[in-house]
Amino acid sequence: MTVQLVVLVVLLLTKSVISQSNTSVTYADIPNHCRGSLPTSNFIRNRNSSLDELVMQLSSTRVLSARAQNITGGDPVFAQAQCRNYLSVDQCVECINEGIFNLVKCRVGNSAYVFLDDCSVRYEAFSSFYNDPNVNEEGAGPGFSICSNVSASQTLSNNTRDIVDDFISDIRDATPKRSNLYVASLRRITNENATMYAMAQCAANINKAICQACMDTANIKLKACLPSREGKYFDLACFAKYSETSFFNDNQTMDITSILKGDHLSKVAIVAGAIGGLVFLLLTIVLCFFRRRKNSKKTEQEDSKGTLNYNYEDLRIATNNFSEENILGKGGFGDVYKATIDEKNVVAVKKLQVQDVRAKEEFENEVTLISNVHHRNLLRLLGWSSEGSDLLLVLEYMANGSLDHFLWGSKRGTLDWNQRYEIILGIAKGLAHLHSEYHVKIIHRDIKSSNILLSDDFKAKIADFGLARFQPEDATHVNTKFAGTLGYAPPEYALRGVLSDKVDTYSFGIVVLEIISGRRCTDMNCDRPSMEYLLEHAWKLYEKKIHIKLTDETLDLNESQQERVMKITEIALLCTQSPAAKRPTMSEVVLMLQEDQSLGKIQLTRPTFVNNQNRRVHIGPSKINIGVSHV
Ligand SMILES: *[C@@H]1O[C@H](CO)[C@@H](O)[C@H](O)[C@H]1NC(C)=O
Ligand SMILES: *[C@@H]1O[C@H](CO)[C@@H](O)[C@H](O)[C@H]1NC(C)=O
Ligand SMILES: *[C@@H]1O[C@H](CO)[C@@H](O)[C@H](O)[C@H]1NC(C)=O
Ligand SMILES: *[C@@H]1O[C@H](CO)[C@@H](O)[C@H](O)[C@H]1NC(C)=O
Ligand SMILES: *[C@@H]1O[C@H](CO)[C@@H](O)[C@H](O)[C@H]1NC(C)=O
Ligand SMILES: *[C@@H]1O[C@H](CO)[C@@H](O)[C@H](O)[C@H]1NC(C)=O
Ligand SMILES: *[C@@H]1O[C@H](CO)[C@@H](O)[C@H](O)[C@H]1NC(C)=O
Repeated sequence: MTVQLVVLVVLLLTKSVISQSNTSVTYADIPNHCRGSLPTSNFIRNRNSSLDELVMQLSSTRVLSARAQNITGGDPVFAQAQCRNYLSVDQCVECINEGIFNLVKCRVGNSAYVFLDDCSVRYEAFSSFYNDPNVNEEGAGPGFSICSNVSASQTLSNNTRDIVDDFISDIRDATPKRSNLYVASLRRITNENATMYAMAQCAANINKAICQACMDTANIKLKACLPSREGKYFDLACFAKYSETSFFNDNQTMDITSILKGDHLSKVAIVAGAIGGLVFLLLTIVLCFFRRRKNSKKTEQEDSKGTLNYNYEDLRIATNNFSEENILGKGGFGDVYKATIDEKNVVAVKKLQVQDVRAKEEFENEVTLISNVHHRNLLRLLGWSSEGSDLLLVLEYMANGSLDHFLWGSKRGTLDWNQRYEIILGIAKGLAHLHSEYHVKIIHRDIKSSNILLSDDFKAKIADFGLARFQPEDATHVNTKFAGTLGYAPPEYALRGVLSDKVDTYSFGIVVLEIISGRRCTDMNCDRPSMEYLLEHAWKLYEKKIHIKLTDETLDLNESQQERVMKITEIALLCTQSPAAKRPTMSEVVLMLQEDQSLGKIQLTRPTFVNNQNRRVHIGPSKINIGVSHV
């Protein structure tokens, strides 16, 4: 008996502009939203704990946005806090505390959010708002604007108004182009001897399309504020503001025209590409410039993030001139070599085969991005080199090698069930981190058993994340957007190139089936008459409720372990559902694995997959009722 209370508690915050010069936090007259169904007292406890956790994360990890959740007792709470990037961490914590102070007054609903000028906080009983802030909202969310209310004599002149109008359009266009979805800039208005400040920020980790859509609305609402000297737009997916009063330091602004010009330049490049001959010239110039820049750089310099820029020569020596004996593995991205640096540190060096100059240019950006990812289930990037014609990545060395060797390779049968379970959970946690905990969403695109490395204590470490775009495109494959491995890639991605975090969920499901069965996903099951792919085989056993038979025969399971294996097989099948929307997010998978939940009311449907002829396969009905008729 759930009481559907839809209550909108409007708590007006008193406007408190903190005027000390050491802080710029301002609070607007913004309503709190508190609604949904009546929360249990357990939900309220979980909420309080999640909100505390947000503040703890911000202040301990010195970041400006955080997510926290608590699912104790089956009353899940998912919370998110985000500050504007111009704040210091201390100002951020102050703002978030102010938001939480107001949020905890929400006692009649299980869904609440608060908008302040400098930050926002939100919690829900579900996690999908992390990726799509407007989920469950009718229309495009509760967006509203606040315009400063000044007398007519103080409004902007027509001329200035046009300048500000253009400025707001530029902010709209630039924000989704930035990887952090944040822009702050200023524009001098000479004839009025004034400066206009503007910024916009989309919700952390959402995709560019959602950000763009929100900025389109923000653009209209802010322009409707003109000729006021200040306007603000609040929405679940974005915040935007312009003001004549500075609300960030001049040195925190960025050159917006260069962000927009970047876009313009790439269009020029495409045109040049069509002309053909020009391309070569253009690339040569870019390459020369790139080389020159590299040479001027000191070798082995440590950047601010602690990643080393290695000297190519040192790595050549460390890998014994990239000798065959040092090869640890060959992969789509290039070969991996064992290297000994300074006669003591053993590392792995991955040599990327990148012919494309453009890809090489992107390399530095990508490396900076992935070198900041730290998680115990993700392989650490220790350094890199982009001198000469090769791109080299220096990675943690994992003596145990990759998971596939333990499932069907030389070390087959050496992993017991507990180790396998820890590996499954570790992969899920690593992916959840890439998708929703790191400030930029990273989709791996190529999850497979040979990309999972094992540490000395058999913990999973995901390799090759953030590198999919450097993979050479498979010329035999019609879809150039596809950079994955058949057998592990879901149909919508393998056939149409549709990319989302659910691509990784699908591949994860396949890897779990491999871990449970000790079988490779694409191997036909030759010892049976029925020639089936692993997913097909698993599904047919599941339909007959005998999916325990999928288990690797080298495993010796007790009764409770058998039950566990069956539940995890069901989770794996849930991960391989189509369409993608039916698949859980990786954060949800982590919870399911930890809680040992059964799927409950979720109905699984027959999965589809792509076979090695590049065809989508719909698994046919199994002959559940026929029993032993086919000898
Ligand atoms: C900010 O300045 C005020 C005085 O103007 C001072 O009392 C306060 O401690 C300062 N706060 C911080 C965080 O420095
Ligand atoms: C949650 O926090 C609010 C504010 O601190 C407090 O009033 C309330 O008692 C807390 N509730 C629980 C169940 O801890
Ligand atoms: C979750 O919340 C409960 C209170 O409901 C608290 O006792 C527990 O420590 C919290 N768990 C985590 C991991 O924060
Ligand atoms: C702001 O607007 C309100 C009505 O919305 C009006 O009563 C008030 O005088 C205005 N204030 C100024 C400073 O213009
Ligand atoms: C500003 O533009 C409005 C119409 O857009 C016009 O009515 C007004 O006269 C203009 N003011 C000046 C000072 O040009
Ligand atoms: C512009 O404004 C600044 C301060 O607001 C003032 O110092 C300066 O003299 C002004 N310049 C002109 C040309 O009015
Ligand atoms: C930016 O300016 C502020 C004050 O104007 C100063 O305290 C701060 O150090 C500057 N930051 C940088 C990175 O230059």
